[in-house]
Amino acid sequence: MNYPKVLKIIETRNETSDIKTIMFEYPEDITPGQFFMIWIPNIDEIPMSVSFIDKKIKGITFKRIGDATNALFKLKAGDKMGVRGPYGNGFKINGQRILFVAGGTGIAMIAPSVEKAINKEIKTNVLIGAKNKSELFFENRIKKYGAELFVSTDDGSQGYKGFVTDLAKEKISNNKFDQVLTCGPELMMKKLFELSQNISFQASLERYMKCGFGICGQCCVGKGLRVCKEGPVFNEKTLKNIEDFGVFKRDASGRKIKF
Ligand SMILES: Cc1cc2nc3c(=O)[nH]c(=O)nc-3n(C[C@H](O)[C@H](O)[C@H](O)COP(=O)(O)OP(=O)(O)OC[C@H]3O[C@@H](n4cnc5c(N)ncnc54)[C@H](O)[C@@H]3O)c2cc1C
Ligand code: FES
Repeated sequence: MNYPKVLKIIETRNETSDIKTIMFEYPEDITPGQFFMIWIPNIDEIPMSVSFIDKKIKGITFKRIGDATNALFKLKAGDKMGVRGPYGNGFKINGQRILFVAGGTGIAMIAPSVEKAINKEIKTNVLIGAKNKSELFFENRIKKYGAELFVSTDDGSQGYKGFVTDLAKEKISNNKFDQVLTCGPELMMKKLFELSQNISFQASLERYMKCGFGICGQCCVGKGLRVCKEGPVFNEKTLKNIEDFGVFKRDASGRKIKF
């Protein structure tokens, strides 16, 4: 199970000029919020959340930023890559009304979570924040599911002008949500955590990963919580005790990097 399966890519889609989806056949069950380790031979193996979930077909959606994601970006239908997983826990989705807040590529893993909430007949509000209009994706997909969608951009090129946390503050004070679920830059999620007092809260954390299934200890946060195994999704009770949350992460060598 912990060896990569080498698979043929069945389809790729350009979501923006720098963001791409890769679809592949992978019939395992998976919960939104779980992730795969994607192996690009001779380059790297990196964690990627599931962004599309169908019985047989799964997808990942990513932004090209470094060696591995640039190499992935060049792959096309028929090319091969390695996939192992799924790993991690995923979101626990329940209640009558949920606020999803996605920052940047966080919408990649929020989208299948929204789909699951809608299938459970939960009223769903979705906020997507991006730097500018050209970095937005999956808005039509979210609308198609029947969720109420609000967009913010830092420069005001689409939707609300400002941070998605400002938009979230307004929604939280005017509505009653049973859950706030989020994925995005950690400082954004920390701010949202502070705004969501007395609401059930879950955030998906990103930490440098090597094994992806709890063996190497590379991704530990707080007092020995492995993001790949106990996370990547943590609830408000756990987050309260993770002193690293919104403060620092570690690089591949274990050195602290402040947010
Ligand atoms: C659980 C999880 C799910 C993720 N899901 C997505 C997703 O759905 N879409 C998406 O675009 N990105 C996702 N990421 C981030 C993605 O893994 C990194 O962007 C990718 O590893 C960058 O690799 P690179 O070689 O292109 O860039 P590099 O230049 O090597 O690194 C750029 C940044 O990515 C981080 N990174 C590099 N290697 C790893 C690694 N092995 N583990 C964790 N972080 C790493 C670095 O710390 C650095 O901050 C996820 C990360 C985690 C931990
Ligand atoms: S990546 Fe190895 S323990 Fe989490």
